[in-house]
Amino acid sequence: MRWIAIMLLGCAWCGTLLAEEPSAERGKKALLETSFNPAVWTQTAYKNAWKRWDGGKEAPEDYAKAFEEHYGLHPAPFPNNELPMGLRQSQGLLGKGISSDCLVCHGGSIMGKSYVGLGNTALDFQALWEDMSAAEGGPAKTPFTFCNVRGTSEAGSMAVYLLSHREPNLNLRLKAVDLEIHADMCEDVPAWWHLKKKRTMYYDGGADARSVRSIMQFMMSPLNPASAFEKSEPAFRDIQAYLLSLEPPKYPLPVDDKLASKGLETFEQTCSRCHGTYGKKPTYPNRIIPLEEIGTDPKRAQGLSEKFSKYYNQSWFAKEKPGWYADEYTAKASEGYQAPPLDGIWATAPYFHNGSAPTVYHVLNSKARPKIFTRSYHTDRDAYDAEKLGWKIQVLDKPPDEKLPDIEKRKIYDTSQPGRANTGHTFGDKLSDDERMAVIEYLKTL
Ligand code: HEC
Ligand code: HEC
Repeated sequence: MRWIAIMLLGCAWCGTLLAEEPSAERGKKALLETSFNPAVWTQTAYKNAWKRWDGGKEAPEDYAKAFEEHYGLHPAPFPNNELPMGLRQSQGLLGKGISSDCLVCHGGSIMGKSYVGLGNTALDFQALWEDMSAAEGGPAKTPFTFCNVRGTSEAGSMAVYLLSHREPNLNLRLKAVDLEIHADMCEDVPAWWHLKKKRTMYYDGGADARSVRSIMQFMMSPLNPASAFEKSEPAFRDIQAYLLSLEPPKYPLPVDDKLASKGLETFEQTCSRCHGTYGKKPTYPNRIIPLEEIGTDPKRAQGLSEKFSKYYNQSWFAKEKPGWYADEYTAKASEGYQAPPLDGIWATAPYFHNGSAPTVYHVLNSKARPKIFTRSYHTDRDAYDAEKLGWKIQVLDKPPDEKLPDIEKRKIYDTSQPGRANTGHTFGDKLSDDERMAVIEYLKTL
């Protein structure tokens, strides 16, 4: 009898231990198979979105592919009911429908291959949202701009907007609280595989990188009750473990090893103090560089109001479960940008928090940066510039014509617009072009 009791107790203890250990494998499954937001659109909206394209006279032939191309989505590298990565079949109030998920922004492709955790740099979230909602018979207008320029989004403002409709305990409010929306931060999406090196996350390093609740902010669909968050928290702990297990894709083209090892020397002298060292025993200093020193566009660092930070810090999101990683976590405004790790940097163009530098070459030579440019928004080998390391671009001599349709205007990156400056980060300016090319060769190996 006593032995049975001990065995049972032992087993119960085993079970708790297992349940409490986060699992990357479970996290992957949860991320790729669960819909954490109820459906906002019907399947019909997906089928009819083309009616808003360019006059909408005829449905395009290969519709799935045309849909991906039109909005900048990528084929899902996992079973997804024939929907592109980032859209997902889910239950809605009126039966099966479609919602968007983390991967609409955090699923990208490079050299024609899709990756979970690579930022989506082709997305036009504005067009996607407007067309799907209009195809549904709903209002096409969004409450504020979701995307000013293709490949970036106003994800930060979306989080502010969604939180403004909730009480600190996440119950829905009847009337929104004003947390100030600055929809001109033009955020590029960071690669998830850097998370494991980071002590603080987000571009300004404003949050503890081990906070589980922070990464649940995109569950704030008005269709989710407060209870949904608590319920999904263990799944998100596993999802975090999965994000921490991701590795960058390897550079697929030839590398000149001799040139790369020359580049390594320059890198360690000029760049490592901020970006760390790589190889067998990597180091990463987790430094946040003040705006005066980094000089890149300030809008993102200044775009989340003090009111928002205060409200956020009172909310459920800032109160991690005791004993979990980020116990005493509070969001902080930093007035600077975190120097990111550079693993897999070849795959994550365009660069800087606002995607304003199309290639690494442009990061390292501030005088060569284009003022107004566009690109194909394709992600195959033809679109890739293997010399400068990043996207091939076409430099333009004037801003987009007012008469162009909005979706075409958003394909043009005009660095004179708010949030889109490509100034600053002049640390590569003093290098010769030979040194710069050597550093680029070295960066291909990370
Ligand atoms: C609308 C696009 C969008 C969606 C949807 C989205 N994210 Fe993000 N995510 C971003 C952007 C942009 C950033 C950078 C934010 C910043 O600092 O300005 C980011 C940052 C992050 C980071 C921090 C990365 C780092 O290194 O700093 C994590 C982790 C993350 N997101 C997880 C998630 C998860 C999990 C989901 C789904 C529940 C999600 N995101 C949904 C756009 C999005
Ligand atoms: C004083 C610190 C500092 C030094 C020195 C420095 N960087 Fe940076 N670097 C940063 C910061 C901060 C950012 C992010 C800026 C932003 O997003 O606005 C950045 C961004 C980058 C990016 C773009 C990353 C991305 O994912 O968008 C690359 C590439 C880069 N640096 C390479 C280099 C190289 C190569 C050197 C050496 C020649 C160097 N940096 C020197 C601080 C530094």
